[in-house]
Amino acid sequence: MAPASPRLSAPPKSTPTFSPDKTSVIFVLGGPGAGKGTQCAKLVRDYGFTHLSAGDLLRAEQDREGSEFGDMIKEYIKDGKIVPMEVTVQLLENAIMDKDEGRGRFLIDGFPRKMDQAVRFEEAVCPSKFTLFFDCPEDVMSERLINRGKTSGRTDDNAESIKKRFKTFVETSMPVVEYFEKQGKVVKIKAVKSPDEIYEDVKEAMVQRGIEPSAK
Ligand code: C5P
Ligand code: MG
Repeated sequence: MAPASPRLSAPPKSTPTFSPDKTSVIFVLGGPGAGKGTQCAKLVRDYGFTHLSAGDLLRAEQDREGSEFGDMIKEYIKDGKIVPMEVTVQLLENAIMDKDEGRGRFLIDGFPRKMDQAVRFEEAVCPSKFTLFFDCPEDVMSERLINRGKTSGRTDDNAESIKKRFKTFVETSMPVVEYFEKQGKVVKIKAVKSPDEIYEDVKEAMVQRGIEPSAK
């Protein structure tokens, strides 16, 4: 058997590694094509967040030479299924440690997409401040993804995978949004207009949650 990556084998813990007093975590959720990555880039520019996309981390692990998880991740992504949470939570925890740079403000994009990820991350890594949820109808998301598929090179930006990803989003990820909503921890943003128009609403939401832009 190939040697396990030592950094992907931390045991479950009951105390979070990072204290929410020092480390701010904002989850960014929304269906595939809702514009999470686009809005995160703007927030990084203006607020000094470190952006961690769970999907990007999984794709990097999938392509990492010698990864024991590469083949598994590939299959899950193509099928639009949620990768077993141990892998994703550990990749995120590693990335938070690597990229903290002392700023301690993180946007975690495309995560948690399933209840077990939400519970494990908040227990073992860091409780979230709130979730930014980008709400967008499927027909709009679908058009964006088909367009993106022309250049993204992603194995899941095709009609068949998109259908599966929508199903997973409704059945598996929306319950996470509802779970945080019950705790008063969801900021919902309509995500149909242009990126700049949507971003105006995002900035307004940040004001309401007491998050200031970083000094320029
Ligand atoms: O967020 P993104 O669209 O880049 O995610 C691509 C795929 O990565 C998802 O469809 C899913 O297969 C996987 N993923 C996951 N768990 C997450 C985020 C992404 O399994 N929290
Ligand atoms: Mg993305």
